[in-house]
Amino acid sequence: MRVAVIGTGYVGLVTGSCLAEYGMYVTCVDIDKEKIDKLNNGEIPIYEPGLEPIIEKNVKEERLKFTTDIDETIKNNLVVFIAVGTPPKENGSADLTFVENVARKIAENLNGYKVVVDKSTVPVGTGQHVKNIIRDVAGENKRFDVVSNPEFLREGAAVHDFMKPDRIVIGAESEEAVAIMKDVYSAHYLNEAPFVITNIETAEMIKYASNAFLALKITYINEIANLCDLAGADVHKVAKAMGMDGRISPKFLHPGPGYGGSCFPKDTQALAYIAKEYGYDFNLINTTIKVNEQQKFKMVEKIAQLLEVDHTKENAFENLTIGVLGLSFKPNTDDMRESPSITIINEIVSKKGKIKAFDPIATDNAKKIFGNSINYCEDEYSAVEGADCLVILTEWNQFRKLDMQRIKNLMKKHYLADLRNIYEPEKMHKLGFKYTSVGRG
Ligand code: UDX
Repeated sequence: MRVAVIGTGYVGLVTGSCLAEYGMYVTCVDIDKEKIDKLNNGEIPIYEPGLEPIIEKNVKEERLKFTTDIDETIKNNLVVFIAVGTPPKENGSADLTFVENVARKIAENLNGYKVVVDKSTVPVGTGQHVKNIIRDVAGENKRFDVVSNPEFLREGAAVHDFMKPDRIVIGAESEEAVAIMKDVYSAHYLNEAPFVITNIETAEMIKYASNAFLALKITYINEIANLCDLAGADVHKVAKAMGMDGRISPKFLHPGPGYGGSCFPKDTQALAYIAKEYGYDFNLINTTIKVNEQQKFKMVEKIAQLLEVDHTKENAFENLTIGVLGLSFKPNTDDMRESPSITIINEIVSKKGKIKAFDPIATDNAKKIFGNSINYCEDEYSAVEGADCLVILTEWNQFRKLDMQRIKNLMKKHYLADLRNIYEPEKMHKLGFKYTSVGRG
């Protein structure tokens, strides 16, 4: 089976490489020549654990190729995945320009029946839109099918998520297209991964409904955590007991500084926009977006409260040095997109605080955002040297095993805001830290 994947961003590259690993012959295409040259030289443009060896192996075994030649690639393949970006516009809706351009390219090169698969996260209705574009350009008599096959990949665990998915969703309009998609995913089929076959619109909705629900679940536990802080309850015990109810499940009940990343913020906004377009006011999602934004500012308030300064003052953090551990939106990624660290750090800097930050791999991306407004450190210990307060913003595993006595000795004052709840409050108090966390009193 020969498969084309158009767009070698995060989704396209993981999808193409993993399909090759599962035996497909895959050609990945991108208009960015520099990126394709790099990939052909064995350089991987994203950080994703486990991806590099898969690419290396499958390129060597000639199941995986990278090219800029979109016309030839479309002509040579039965299945064409669209995995290009759908960046958010000002109003929160998804910009479909790249998807539309690819649809036109496919139509121009439609030399026989093809299955066109929407892998990018696209608004409900895009499948039909892509179908119309191809039909308009290629003409009425050309045979093709459009399929929606949303991805549910977590950054940092994308290879695992692709190989062992909770479900594979296929939204299609013909049995022929479903049969071909099952062939593409034959290895998953053998491994008994569950398939959900729907129409195109349902598949598109599943993606948004899932991501928005997870964003809502996190936001819910964040609000419970804020309430626990006020009421003297322990959110970890609350979440644990909640999760024991099979209807709730224990996952995505970890409180923190708010969700970030490339999916939840974008998809919640897009869903709110889609709802609005249909004249439906999706209150729950609108509120989730608002509360998640507030949570980041709440964290700044928390830090100010710990340091006993007034967060409403313009120079609240003047003469204070804050050591920050973790900048990426979550561990195991260098991705800074919508990371809560951006709002939190910018707010502290705007209120005259000095930031010394360390992240294991996101520093280069962080520099593009913060520029010279903060100091970048080589390791955890240099970030806390002379600091008044340590703020943990991302729960990298290496931050869980720090020599806290050494940290304390290096700091000027001993304030610790553990915004990912990775340390035991009692132990930290015993060590002499003035400690705060999210929702543990
Ligand atoms: C997510 C979805 O999990 C994935 O299915 C979808 O396809 C893309 O979006 P990702 O953005 O990579 O994946 O990250 P994820 O691990 O889901 O975390 C998202 C954000 O939520 C992070 O900022 C994380 O710190 C936060 N989070 C997650 C919490 O604050 N608490 C939790 O319990 C879980």
